[in-house]
Formats: sequence, C-alpha cells, structure tokens
Amino acid sequence: MLEQYCEKAQLKDGQTILDIGCGWGSLSLYIARKYANCSVTGICYSTTQKAYIEERCSDFQLSNVKIIVADISKFEMEATYDRIISVDMFEHMKNYKELLKKISTWMKQDGLLFIQHSCHKVFAYHFEEHSDENQIRSIFLTGGTMPSANLLLYFQEDVAVVNHWLVNGMYFARTSEEWLKRMDQNAAAIRPIMESIYGKDSATKWTAYWRTYFIWLAEIFAYKNGEEWMIVHFLFRRRNRIVFVCHQLLQPYLLDYCCSFSQTLCLYFLICDRTLKVCI
Ligand SMILES: C[S@@+](CC[C@H](N)C(=O)[O-])C[C@H]1O[C@@H](n2cnc3c(N)ncnc32)[C@H](O)[C@@H]1O
Repeated sequence: MLEQYCEKAQLKDGQTILDIGCGWGSLSLYIARKYANCSVTGICYSTTQKAYIEERCSDFQLSNVKIIVADISKFEMEATYDRIISVDMFEHMKNYKELLKKISTWMKQDGLLFIQHSCHKVFAYHFEEHSDENQIRSIFLTGGTMPSANLLLYFQEDVAVVNHWLVNGMYFARTSEEWLKRMDQNAAAIRPIMESIYGKDSATKWTAYWRTYFIWLAEIFAYKNGEEWMIVHFLFRRRNRIVFVCHQLLQPYLLDYCCSFSQTLCLYFLICDRTLKVCI
C-alpha cells in the first residue's frame, strides 16, 4: 500500500513531502528511505510518536526527515510542498472545507495532495461522544467523522480533484484481523505496555477494548464483501485562482469573454455580489 500511495501521489525523488497525521511514521520513513533526495516533513500529534520516528531515523541513518508535533486544526505555517499526503487522518477531523483550505496553502502552485480515508459507500456520519463505554467505536474514534465515499468532492473551493479510487473494504478487514492475531500472539509482551499506559487495574479491560476494536473494524469492512464500508483515495491539485473584480454592469461582457476562453481552458464561474471570480 505504501508503494501505491507514492505512485498515486506521483511522487518523485527530490521533491518536498508533507505527511499530515504521520502517526508512527511508516509512510514518512518509507519515502525517506526509498527516495533519498526527498525531504520529508511529518506532522504528528504526540511527542512519543516524534521520539519513535526520530529513533528510527537514527537507526536508518536518515537525515531527510523532520517531525513536527502539532494539532493540525490549529497549526499554521508558511512552508509549501510538492506533495502532501494524509493517510487515515481525515476520519479524526471535522470541517473539511477549512481543513482543505488550510492544506491548499501548503501546496506549491503545481503541488498535489493525496488523501486516504475509510468511508461508508453512501452515508457520512459523526463519531459522537458517548459516555457509554459499551460503544467501542466511541472509545477509539471520539469526535471524528466517518466520511462517505464522495464527501470530499463537495469541498473543492481550494483544491480540485484529479483522480479518485475506491479500495474494497476486505483489504482493511484482513489488516485488522492481522492486528488482532499479532496482538494475541504477543499478549505477554503487550501486557506491561497496557499496564504502563492504562494502569495495572485497567490493563485487562483495555486489552479487551483493543481486541473488540479490531474485531469491529474487521466485521464492518468485510460486510457485504467489502462493498459497504471501504477505503477511498483522492488526488487533488491546488486550485489556482484569478479574481477579477468589476462593476455589476461590466459582468456580462467579462462573462462573455471568459465563456469563449473556457472552451479551451475549462473554466467555471462564481458570481458573488459584484465580484466575478474565475477559478481555473
Ligand atoms: C489512524 S492514524 C494514521 C497514522 C499514519 N498516517 C499511518 O497511516 O500509519 C491517525 C493519525 O492522525 C493523527 N491525528 C489525529 N488528530 C490529529 C490532529 N488534530 N492533528 C494532528 N494529527 C492528528 C493521530 O496522531 C494519528 O497518528
């Protein structure tokens, strides 16, 4: 899958890469090792993840990886990148319009954005906050969203879709079954980790929560042979915007001009108040 992300993102050696929600760095490290002339910046949410990735970088003697710890919904920066990739972070997010707007400012003029997220084939829904601990989903995915397969297509003001792909849910179901199997095979080694994170008294309970979470994922993504919940990949480019501001009376003339122009360049128009915006 890591190779597929790079292919679909049209990644090339020498580019600057931003991996948003890089987690434990599997993709950032993969890119940094495979494309030695790429410089990779990962944004993660925890200092433990940053420390882990930096340790792996020193194991592999990599000097082309930089990790930033930040909450993406609040984080701002000036830097721009050739490729931005986000794998399985959008499910933790809300307000995709604002998020894509922010990400678009980090894309170079000809930059591309590749996103993977899980989805339901038709419905988008919130992962609501529950105090009810029996709702295993709410424990691990509180406050996020299950997007529908087409949800991001509704947010194309700042980015424009280049391509999108559906990946059958069975792949993810098998992955989750594998996580469960490995967790069970390594139960003795995992026990002290559970105790250190959740406390001695709660380690058994949290082990059960994690097992149930993996079973839940495997079940829903395998439902109807993986054609109900699945994975979607998007490739977006940055929408470069030329804004003409003109008086209302002049708009028909400008619109005429742009319409003939559009036959070759494929433009679309947004007219708000007195401003005619031409988005390419
Ligand atoms: C399911 S993991 C995916 C990690 C990684 N991309 C991968 O494929 O292995 C989701 C990641 O999103 C990160 N994340 C969630 N909310 C975030 C936020 N508000 N700001 C930055 N990262 C966030 C989490 O830290 C987590 O590592």
